[in-house]
Amino acid sequence: MTKGLKLPNDFLWGGAVSAHQVEGAWQEGGKGVSIADVMMAASRTDPARVVTDKVEDGKIYPNHWGIDFYHRYKDDIDLFQQLGMRAFRTSIAWTRIYPNGDELKPNEEGLAYYEDLFNTLRSKGIEPVVTLSHFEMPNKLVQEYGGWRNRELIDMFVRFATTCFQRFHKQVRFWMTFNEIDNQSDWRFDHHLLQDSGLKLKEGENAEEAMFQASHNELVASARAVLAARKIDPQLQVGGMLAMVPIYPLTAKPEDQMEAMRAMQYRYFFGDVEALGQYPAWLRKYWRQKGYNVKVSAADADILRRGTVDFMGMSYYMSFATAERDDGEVEFDEHNDLVGNPYLPKSDWGWQIDPVGMRWILNWMQDRWHKPVMIVENGFGAYDKVEDGKIHDNYLIDYLRSHIAEMEKAVVLDGVDLIGYMMWSPIDLISASTGEMAKRYGLIYVDQDDTGKGSKKRLLKDSYFWYQRLIASNGADLQ
Ligand code: BG6
Repeated sequence: MTKGLKLPNDFLWGGAVSAHQVEGAWQEGGKGVSIADVMMAASRTDPARVVTDKVEDGKIYPNHWGIDFYHRYKDDIDLFQQLGMRAFRTSIAWTRIYPNGDELKPNEEGLAYYEDLFNTLRSKGIEPVVTLSHFEMPNKLVQEYGGWRNRELIDMFVRFATTCFQRFHKQVRFWMTFNEIDNQSDWRFDHHLLQDSGLKLKEGENAEEAMFQASHNELVASARAVLAARKIDPQLQVGGMLAMVPIYPLTAKPEDQMEAMRAMQYRYFFGDVEALGQYPAWLRKYWRQKGYNVKVSAADADILRRGTVDFMGMSYYMSFATAERDDGEVEFDEHNDLVGNPYLPKSDWGWQIDPVGMRWILNWMQDRWHKPVMIVENGFGAYDKVEDGKIHDNYLIDYLRSHIAEMEKAVVLDGVDLIGYMMWSPIDLISASTGEMAKRYGLIYVDQDDTGKGSKKRLLKDSYFWYQRLIASNGADLQ
């Protein structure tokens, strides 16, 4: 038996998905059209997802079918229970509750759906962990309001959040506001701006300035949601959620070190605001140097200061590396300034595999933000082969084993205050970046191809049994 380090008995071992990647049923239960519903399928070799203004006939939108979790959740949750999962993270599709985002009254059918989902989880002893906005804002808010550059969205989001806290506070204790809010720091990639902030750039608009304004509005909305939750039920725990990707310097050269530090500052100011309640000094300087007019009122600053999160949720998949730029530009540009790390292998999708980076980033977060941490995503997308009804996915087991071993060191040896680990994902689902089904993350296989064809039958992979043993031993049996 490969010995792991046993974690505390109340550690939340679990798995995570998001609503739009699994539910399907995009037109059922009074649901409105979300930004995820207008994202077409892409592929590994051509990963940028085309986004149409509205749903167009004859185009392929994989989120329309998901894995049909909307209808099959009771059976799927049975499989999660048998796996031993203690926590399940999903999101609430904003468009099931407020179909267009700007209504004043919620859609009862949507609320009833999630109420039953959360009750089902609880009845099986599984703690629901819920994200409010996971890349799926109402499309009307993108098309007609201009996305998060518009401050009107703050009130709409807070209304949505408040409705959810009021209705579900008895079933759901752990909440997160915006999924991977920091992805938009790579604003040169349109896809991130759209998924995080619903921003479609206007002619002549400065994309970076628009990103900062949209991010600020989201950060205010997030802080107001934290304050609203506290009023409704002081037991609620509301977290931020960031994609944590350590950005290492390629060498010990001081200029490379400087570049890496700048890269970390640039990507993680979102966490500084959510956890520490204020913008870092470098960023306020940067806005001035660039001549950006990011509107941050005194009232906003007060809300950010008071509405700091209770914990930090994070995803971890890979690490990056960077080196000094030779073109004289000062700002960090994630799209162009990353370099390959010669010490790390990559997945078929080019994601660098770095288990030690998990321990590194957990320590970094604790030192910087001084908040409990929850890992709400960690996993490996790969091609699976079904042989005689079995899937021998040793590549996933290897990935999870090596990452969990490092996570356990961070907790047991380094003293990181970690609430739980939710791998991504207990079941195959639609990839967020490419819309593929072929990029499989699950412990449970779903018989469906990239075009939505297949029986949708669920099959248990070898990794399912491996994770089951691991949870039963509280992390000690990593064999
Ligand atoms: C995270 C997202 O970025 O990574 C998930 O929060 C996503 O929604 C996951 O699915 C894996 O990425 P991808 O693009 O392979 O699905």
